[in-house]
Amino acid sequence: MELHSMILLFILITHSASASTDTIFPKQTLKDGDTIVSAAETFELGFFSFRNSSFRYLGIWYKKITPRTVVWVANRDVRLLDASSMLKLNNDGNLQLLSVSNTLVWSSPSSINLATNSTPVAQLLDSGNLVIRDDISNRVVWQSFDHPGDTWLPGMKIGVERVKGVNWNLTSWKTIDDPSFGSYTVWMNINGYPQLYNTKDESSLQQRIGYWNGLGFSGVFVLRSNNLYTYEFVLNEENIYLRFILKNDTYRTRMILNPEGNFVQLVWNDSTQKWLVYSSPLQDACDRYSFCGPYGICSINNSPACSCSEGFEPKLPEEWSAADWVNGCKRRRHLNPEKGHKFMKFTDLKLPDSKTSWFNSSNSLEECKILCANNDSCTAFASSDIRGAGSGCLMWFGELMDIREAPQGDVSGQDIYIKMARDKKKPYLKVTLLIVSTVVMLIFALILYSWRRKKTSNNKALVNKDQKQDSDLPLFSLNEVVKATNNFSIGNKLGQGGFGAVYKGVLEEGAEVAVKRLSKTSRQGIVEFQNEVICIAKLQHRNLVKLLGCCVEGEEMMLIYEYMPNKSLDFFLFDKNNSLSLDWPQRYHIINGIARGLLYLHQDSRLRIIHRDLKASNILLDSNMNPKLSDFGLARMFKEYETEANTNNVVGTLGYISPEYAANGLFSLKSDVFSFGVLVLEIMSGKKNRGFSHQTHQDNLLGHAWRLYKEAKPLELVDVALGDSWTASEVLQSIHVGLSCVQQHADDRPSMSSVVHMLGGEGALPPPKQPGFFSEITKPEVESTLIMPQVPISINKITITQLDAR
Ligand SMILES: *[C@@H]1O[C@H](CO)[C@@H](O)[C@H](O)[C@H]1NC(C)=O
Ligand SMILES: *[C@@H]1O[C@H](CO)[C@@H](O)[C@H](O)[C@H]1NC(C)=O
Ligand SMILES: *[C@@H]1O[C@H](CO)[C@@H](O)[C@H](O)[C@H]1NC(C)=O
Ligand SMILES: *[C@@H]1O[C@H](CO)[C@@H](O)[C@H](O)[C@H]1NC(C)=O
Ligand SMILES: *[C@@H]1O[C@H](CO)[C@@H](O)[C@H](O)[C@H]1NC(C)=O
Ligand SMILES: *[C@@H]1O[C@H](CO)[C@@H](O)[C@H](O)[C@H]1NC(C)=O
Repeated sequence: MELHSMILLFILITHSASASTDTIFPKQTLKDGDTIVSAAETFELGFFSFRNSSFRYLGIWYKKITPRTVVWVANRDVRLLDASSMLKLNNDGNLQLLSVSNTLVWSSPSSINLATNSTPVAQLLDSGNLVIRDDISNRVVWQSFDHPGDTWLPGMKIGVERVKGVNWNLTSWKTIDDPSFGSYTVWMNINGYPQLYNTKDESSLQQRIGYWNGLGFSGVFVLRSNNLYTYEFVLNEENIYLRFILKNDTYRTRMILNPEGNFVQLVWNDSTQKWLVYSSPLQDACDRYSFCGPYGICSINNSPACSCSEGFEPKLPEEWSAADWVNGCKRRRHLNPEKGHKFMKFTDLKLPDSKTSWFNSSNSLEECKILCANNDSCTAFASSDIRGAGSGCLMWFGELMDIREAPQGDVSGQDIYIKMARDKKKPYLKVTLLIVSTVVMLIFALILYSWRRKKTSNNKALVNKDQKQDSDLPLFSLNEVVKATNNFSIGNKLGQGGFGAVYKGVLEEGAEVAVKRLSKTSRQGIVEFQNEVICIAKLQHRNLVKLLGCCVEGEEMMLIYEYMPNKSLDFFLFDKNNSLSLDWPQRYHIINGIARGLLYLHQDSRLRIIHRDLKASNILLDSNMNPKLSDFGLARMFKEYETEANTNNVVGTLGYISPEYAANGLFSLKSDVFSFGVLVLEIMSGKKNRGFSHQTHQDNLLGHAWRLYKEAKPLELVDVALGDSWTASEVLQSIHVGLSCVQQHADDRPSMSSVVHMLGGEGALPPPKQPGFFSEITKPEVESTLIMPQVPISINKITITQLDAR
C-alpha cells in the first residue's frame, strides 16, 4: 500500500517536473524554460525566441533538429515581452497563456464539452499536434492541427469542415522572425470542384495549386505521392480536405508557406543535418494565376509563353503582341446553341480554374459529354479523376481561366474537351447545295405526285399484303393518320423514342399500326427524308420492324410501322413479374433473332446500316415473341441534322455506348456489336447494365459478368427468373458471345457474322478480353478517399483532335 502511494507520488512529481513528459494536467503550469516533449521525442513544446530578439513565443518545434525549426506558434500576433509567462491548463480544459501580470495573452477556446467527471489533459503528440482531451473518453476537444500556421505537417488537414464551417487555412508569417499573420493564405476553395488556392492579402489569387485528380494536382508538377508520403483527399458531405501521410514515421518533412508566398516542401537530411527543398509547386511564370488570361494557354517552353488555342484568337491583338496577355483570347466564332457545336480535345494541360465548375464523381466521361452537350452554359468538360481510364465528370461554365501546358516530363497533364462553334460551310458549297437540292426537289415533287396518284388508284394498298413487295412506299395523308391515332391522343401514345413519339393507330380498314411522329426540330429536308425512307422501306427482314409507309405534310413527317402487340423487350426483361414469362428458350430465340437482324443491317442489306441505338427498348416483340429491331436507319436519316445543329438529341444510349464512341465519337459496325453484347448480357441476367449494383464491388453488369467469367462461375449470371428452363451449353455460349462483343477494343470484337455462326453452333470465338466501361458508371457517390497507386502514364506532347458532339 505504502509502496503504491510512493509510486503515485513519484509519478505526480515527474509530471510537475515536466521535462520528461508529454502531458500537462489541470492546475499544472508550464513556465518559461520548461518544455514538454512528445513520447518519441519528435516534437517539443515550450517558450522560445527568434534570433537577435528578446520577444518570447509559445510554440512547437522539432526536438532533435538544430537550428530550432518551429512548426506552430500559439501567440502569433501577441508577442511576450519577457521570460516570465506561463502556460496553464484549467479544470475546464482550457489552455491559457498568461503574462507576468496575469493578463491573458492567448488561450484555446473556453467553451468545450468535457465528459462529466472527466479531467482534461493537454498532450503533445509525436505528429506535432497539441491536443486537449478528456481522460475518460479520450475524445479530443481541441487540437493545434485545427489551427494551422505556416507549416503543413503530415496528417494536418487543409480544407473545410462543412458542418461547423471550420476552415483549415495555412497563413504565412510576416517574416521568418515574425510569426504574426503575413500576406499569403493557402486554402481550399470549395466553389465548384474543390481546389487549393494561394491568395495574397485575402483577395489576390497568386497561384491555383489546383484540384485533386486522383493522382496529384492538375498540372502541378510536384505535388503527388512519392516514396516519402501519399496524399489523401477527402470529399464528402461533412469534410473536404487534403492531407499527406508519411510512409515511414522516421522521415521528417514539412511544407511551409513562406513569407514570400512560396509553398515549399522540405525534407530533413540526417547526414547533412539540413532541410532540403524537396519540391515547390511554384516553378515558373506559367504557374502564376491566369498568366495568359482567359482561354490563353501558357507553355513555358515557347517564346512567347502565351498562345491562344486552336479556334481562339487574342482579344486585344495589339496588347497581345506587346506581351500584355491579361486579356487573353476569345473565340473566333461565338457559340450559338442554335447552330450546334463540336468538342475539341486538348491534351496534357493543367485544367482551368474550377471555381465555376460542376462535378459529379459518379458520372463517366461519356455521360459528361452528354451533360455538357445538352447544357448551353457548359463550355468544357473533362474527367475529374484521371486514374485508369478516367472517371467522374467535371464541367465548366463561362470563360476558362488559368490553363497551362503541363511541364515537360510531367505526368500530371490532363485532357479537356472544349465546346466550339461548328465550322461554317463554305459559301460556294452552300450555293451548289442549294441548286442541287432545288433540282432534286423538283424531281421528287414529280415522283411524289405520281405516288399519290398510284396510291389513290390502288386504294389503300396497305392492307393488301402483296402490296408490300412493291418497291413503292405507300404515302399516308395527315388526315388519315390523325384519324387513326385519335389526333395523337395521349391514350394512343406508346412511347417516346430518340427521334420522336410513337402512337398506336387503327386505320379505317381496321389494321393496327404504330406511327412514329418525328420531332419537328429533328430532321433534315424533305428530299433527304424521302430518300432515306425509301431506303429503309427496302430493308426487309423478319427481325426488323416493317415500315408500312410514311406521311409528309407541312411540318409533319411520320413513319408508319406494323404494330407490335407485345411491346418491347425491356418491358419483359426488367420487370420482376413480366420477366417470369420469358423463359430461356424464348430468350435464346430473341438473342438469335437480334443477331440475325443486326447481321442483315450490317452486311446483307445493300445499305450497310449501323443501327447506333441498339437497346432493349428498341427490340419489339410480335405476337409470337419474335424480336424485331426498330429505329434502324433513323440515325442515318438524321445524319445531316446531328452534325449540324443537334444538341439535344443524343444518338446512342448510356449503358450501350461503346468506349470508342464515348471517347472520341467514332462509330462503326463494332459499336453496334458492343451494344449487342450488352443486350445479350442483359437478356441473360435480367439486369440493366446501366444502374446495375452489387454489394461487393463497384462494377457495372459488364464488369460483374467479367468477374464471374474470370472466377470460373459464369453461370451465376443467369437470371433467377429463368428457373431451370436453361441449358448450360447455350447459356455459356451466350455469355461468351456477350463478353466477346463488349471487349474494350473494337478490333477484338467479333463481326455479327461470327456471332451468328457461333450462336448457330458453328465456329468458336477466342476467349474474351476485358470489357470496356466495366466500372466507371457506378462509383461511390459522395465519399472518395483516395490514396493513389503509382500508375505509370505515358507522356505525350500536346495534341489536338476534333470530335463531334451529337
Ligand atoms: C543578428 O545579429 C547579428 C549581430 O548583430 C547580425 O550579424 C545578424 O545578421 C543578425 N541576424 C538576423 C537574422 O537579423
Ligand atoms: C481561409 O481563407 C479563406 C479565403 O481567404 C477565407 O474565406 C476564410 O475565412 C479563411 N478562414 C480562416 C479560418 O482564416
Ligand atoms: C523506416 O525507415 C527506417 C530507417 O530508414 C527503417 O529502419 C525502417 O525499417 C523503416 N520502417 C518501415 C516501416 O518501412
Ligand atoms: C542526404 O544528403 C546526402 C549528401 O548530400 C545525400 O547523399 C543523401 O542522398 C541525402 N539523403 C536524402 C534522404 O535525401
Ligand atoms: C451523379 O451521377 C449519378 C450517376 O449518373 C446520378 O445517379 C446522380 O444523381 C448524379 N448526382 C447529381 C448530384 O447530379
Ligand atoms: C447547366 O448546368 C448547371 C449546373 O448543373 C445548372 O445550374 C444549369 O441550370 C444548367 N443549364 C441548363 C440550361 O440546363
